[in-house]
Amino acid sequence: MANIQKITVLGSGIMGHGIAQISAMAGFDVILRDIDKKFLDSAMNKIKWSLDKLVEKQKITQVDSESIFNRIKPIVEIKEALVGADLIIEAVPEDLVLKKKVYQEIDENSDTRSIYASNTSTLPITEISSLTSRPNKFIGLHFFNPPQLMKLVEVIPGKSTDELTKNVGLDFVKRVGKVPILCGKDVPGFIVNRIFIPLVHEAAFCLDRDGPTKTQIDSSVKFRMSFPMGIFELADYTGLDVIHKATLEMYSRDKKVIFPHHLIKDLYVEGKFGKKTGSGFYSYTADQYERVSLSEEDSRIYDPIKILSVALNNASWLITNKVCSVEDLETALRLGMGLKRPLFSTGAEFGINTVVETLKDLEKQFGDFYKPDEYLMLIQN
Ligand code: 3HC
Repeated sequence: MANIQKITVLGSGIMGHGIAQISAMAGFDVILRDIDKKFLDSAMNKIKWSLDKLVEKQKITQVDSESIFNRIKPIVEIKEALVGADLIIEAVPEDLVLKKKVYQEIDENSDTRSIYASNTSTLPITEISSLTSRPNKFIGLHFFNPPQLMKLVEVIPGKSTDELTKNVGLDFVKRVGKVPILCGKDVPGFIVNRIFIPLVHEAAFCLDRDGPTKTQIDSSVKFRMSFPMGIFELADYTGLDVIHKATLEMYSRDKKVIFPHHLIKDLYVEGKFGKKTGSGFYSYTADQYERVSLSEEDSRIYDPIKILSVALNNASWLITNKVCSVEDLETALRLGMGLKRPLFSTGAEFGINTVVETLKDLEKQFGDFYKPDEYLMLIQN
């Protein structure tokens, strides 16, 4: 691999601070940059909390924890942050105007040999790489929340990404102890978000159309679809700001990918971003890791077939369109969303015929979004 030693992470939010931490855990020297010291202070506190957790669970020693922490340098000044960076990982919010400004700063202040990576969750890599002067040195490295625990990184080359940059991306992911899945096509939402983001909207439609409670839906997603969290719980954990922006970006590029429900935008407009603001779909008491209480008993009240069918339909689209193989898809869902069971096995348990019938019925009532994908039609009995 090109001699990568020094990493600069731009943006110290949920993803940025986690990427900085795992890079330092792998032995890299890391600079974590944000526009205000108060964001960096908060990020360094979160890193300290996470390292303490890992010590408590005997994943690392106290001595390791201190040296990891000391390998991360928080810096506000952009010029200083980019000096000598071999790999620059951009993890700023999903706003094209903001990204454009950040890439301009990188272009002006970084060494021409440095490689750019973006942790964008939805913006096409080819499109954003063209905002830089070196699209051949640009790669998508999409981590999952929390980066400290989730093993998956989607690796997305753009049209101009050269072979060396692609290999540096793949090697870096392995060096930080993660599993890379290469996206065969640079499509909106890549692999996991193409499944996850539309599900939040579908779950909101289920609230309206079928009248269950949020915890009944979430319990059925958790206990009957083998997700580690409910879908509203996961949306709050990820951030409704992130989900709303991802929705806009994905939907503007492909109307078939999402059937938007207004509730996500409404929560965003009200500033209810989920866990980070104390309320979203649920309310939270503290700025700490906190889970929603879900139960097997509640999971028996609501049948998650519509949510499962939409997940399988988007998964099938990825396969039909050769974005990934079934095997890579299941690996991505296991390592990126923590699914405890392959999605298509859950589909088989409910019956692929039932899934197809559910989608046809939804298509009749609500339109084209629900049209069953050809791969689903192929595998039904
Ligand atoms: N660092 C270290 N430890 C952490 C941590 C962190 N950042 N975050 C949580 N933990 C700890 C918890 O404190 C808890 O410790 P405890 O046992 O002492 O209480 C422990 O990890 C396990 O937590 P839980 O008991 O809540 O158990 P789970 O088995 O459910 O694991 C989880 C937690 C890994 C978060 C799991 O629920 C999960 O995989 N959830 C789904 C996450 C997901 O789908 N992420 C992807 C979202 S999409 C995305 O990120 C893409 C973006 O572009 C939108």
